[in-house]
Parts: sequence; structure tokens; C-alpha cells
Amino acid sequence: MAKRENFTSRAGFILSCIGAAVGLGNIWMFPYRLGQNGGAAFLIPYFIFVLILGSTGLITEFAFGRKFKGGSMTGIRTIFNEKNKKGGLLVGLIPVVGLAGVFMFYNVVVGWIMKYFSMSITGELFSIDVNTFFQGFAGSSETIIWDFIAIALTLIIVYVGVTKGIELINKIIMPALFIIFILLAIRSLTLPGAMEGVKYLLTPKWEFLFKANTWVMALGQAFFTVSLNGCGMVVYGSYMKKDFDIPRSALSTAILDTLAALLASFVIMPAVFAFKLDPMAGPPLLFITMPTIFKSMPGGSIIAIVFFLSLLFAAISSTINMLEGPVEALMSQTKFSRKKSAMIIAAITFILSIPLNLSMTTFDNFTNLITIIISPLAVLIVFFVFYYMYDNKKILEEINSGASKNFGNGFLKFAKYVFAIVTIIVIILGVMYGGIG
Ligand code: TRP
Repeated sequence: MAKRENFTSRAGFILSCIGAAVGLGNIWMFPYRLGQNGGAAFLIPYFIFVLILGSTGLITEFAFGRKFKGGSMTGIRTIFNEKNKKGGLLVGLIPVVGLAGVFMFYNVVVGWIMKYFSMSITGELFSIDVNTFFQGFAGSSETIIWDFIAIALTLIIVYVGVTKGIELINKIIMPALFIIFILLAIRSLTLPGAMEGVKYLLTPKWEFLFKANTWVMALGQAFFTVSLNGCGMVVYGSYMKKDFDIPRSALSTAILDTLAALLASFVIMPAVFAFKLDPMAGPPLLFITMPTIFKSMPGGSIIAIVFFLSLLFAAISSTINMLEGPVEALMSQTKFSRKKSAMIIAAITFILSIPLNLSMTTFDNFTNLITIIISPLAVLIVFFVFYYMYDNKKILEEINSGASKNFGNGFLKFAKYVFAIVTIIVIILGVMYGGIG
């Protein structure tokens, strides 16, 4: 068997994790969620959840992957076998299938972005009626082609491998993404009337802290944004060397992810207010509101290209992670080659995602099922199998290997009780409130 691949440098590893974390969750969902759920007041639950629970989740996923040198399928099956328990394969499949599901709905949206990117290059974006175009486009059969292109692009990177594909591409596009976003934020903030948008983002509406919905939204958003689902980050952790610092990598990922979300808000909202558009537009924000802005902004045709390109960077660095999870699972369970596994998963997910392209109702229901139920459940499974079925001393050793500061029993207790209980509450509330998606 070929030697298992690795991330060659700490920077490459952390940039890949930030790449997985920063995505449409940050740029598309966060800005309008922040506005809808109390402005700056929303930041309180959000920071608590991302920085404390998000890092705890990431530490656990990284350590789980590195310990068993494999994805959650490998880890779960190993622990089940050690305990002579049956059902490891079935339980292990949940996080993998969940991540494949994320990959499926996410690429529908990446396909839309590809279409808008191509229209910004050809100039078509400036001749269509942006208000009606999106309605006709989303759900049309043309989106299948764009979905296909999005999946194919991700496939190429994963096909090439961890070091020369995933690590290399993230090292290039993640710094580029942050630079572009800083420039876009400056542009947006210097538009006349932009300060209204800043006020909108920074004025806390405290009464929102008394609504359960605010906390459910914040938590769902937090899990999604740092890419917790018991599979993708486990696999990245499995490619991590023993002397990399797990807690620090986890915290850096959570912090930079939060920065990216804030930055995205300061790109989008000031421009929305400068042009007196609706900040609560929700999902159409990227596909109707922003194109409207680009149309009337000086230099808008170039800014539109750069904007959609940066969205693609953010999205693809995330979809790579979503594809790598199931691909690694197939490779490790069957001994198929990377190339063969990557082709099989890409083909299956593409075919299964065709209905998601064609019906927005199916798309919404599927997205909700995955993000509200399957993903948090998969996180819980990994936590349960690791902390409750495996030697806790060995877990601490794994977490502390390469770390500058040592974690003790306090961390284990926090993960076993606080994290687990909060996650269960979120699943229940998520079902009750009909969703975070
Ligand atoms: N975190 C990414 C975003 O905010 C999406 C993502 C990437 C993801 N990998 C994941 C979500 C794994 C859940 C699980 O857009």
C-alpha cells in the first residue's frame, strides 16, 4: 500500500483548515444572519459558540483523525472492534454520508456562483435584469451543467492528492482571498452612505438575546462555519504530523474563520446601505442585491469579477474538504486508489444532486435535513465513540502531542458533558425551530 500522505508544513495544514472553514457560510449566510438576529448582539452567542465549542469540536476531530490515522470510519470501526461491538460500519457511515450530503447541496450554490462569475467576465451580468434573472435561473436545468463544472473542478484537486492538490491550492488561494476581501471592504466602506451599514452591523439590539431562536441560529451557524460534522476535519487531522499543535491549530482556524465572517459583513452591508437596498434580502443577497450594486458602482464590472472569483476561492477550498472526507473513507475501506475513489464519489454525488438543482423545495428540505439533523448528530457520534468508548488517557496524549500547552481532565469533562449536552439541545431546538439552513 502506498504511504499515507501528509500535510508537509504547519502553515499548509492551518491554511487548509481555514480554507475548509471559510466558505459560503461566512460570506453568504453570516452577514444577513447577523443583521436578522440582533446585529452586534448576535456576536455574543456567536463568539462564544465558535471560539469555545467550535475549537473544542475541532480539537476533537483533529485528534480523532491523527490518533487512528484515518477518517471517522477508520476510528469508529477500530474502537468498535476493540470493544467487540457490532455496527461500526453503519455508525461510521453517518458522518461520511452527511459530508457527502453537504458536498451535494453546496455545489449547487457553487454552480450558481460559477454562472455569475462567467457572466461578470462576458459582461452579460450587466445586460440582464438582475431582479428577475435569478428566479428563472435557480431551479432550471442549466444549473446542472454548472453544478457539474463545480464538482469537476473540486475533483481535479482531490484527484491530485493531499500535498500537491489540497495543500498547494490552499496555500495560494487562502492568502489571496483575505487580500481581496480587505480591498473589497475598503472599497465598500468608502462609498457615500456606507456608514449606515456599519451602524446596522454594530448597533446591538439586546432584546434578541432573550429569543431562543438567536441562540439556535448562532450555534447552527457556528458548527457549520468551522466545518464540524465528524468527518471532514477528522480526515484533515489524519494527515497532520505528530509534532503539529492541535489546540493551537483549532483556535487559529476558529479565529480566522470569525475574522473572515466579519470582513465579509463589512464588504456586503456597507455597500447594501450605500445603495439603499434591503439588508434582509437573505439568500438572494449575493445573486440579486450584489449584482444590482455592481451595475451602478463606478468600476463595478471589474469589482464584480473579483468578487465572484473570491467567492469561488472561498467555496472551492471548502468543497475540497467535503469531497476528501468521503474519498478517504472509500480509499481506506476498500483499498481502491485515490484516483478511482475520487472519481466514484464525484460521479455518485453529481448524479444524486441533480434533483437538488431542479427544485428549490427539494434543495431547502435536503439542506435542512443535513445541516440541522445529520451533521450535529454525526459530531455527537464522534464525540461519543471517542470520549466514552476509548481510553481517555490516550486521548489527552494525542491532543497534547506537539502542543505548547497541555490539556488535562478539565478539557475532557468539558467535551464530554458541556459540549455533548449543548449539541443535543441544538438538535432538538433545531428540529423545533425548523432550521438553521
Ligand atoms: N465551513 C464551510 C462554510 O462555512 C462549509 C464546510 C466545509 C463544511 N467543510 C465542511 C460544513 C464540513 C460542514 C462540514 O461554508
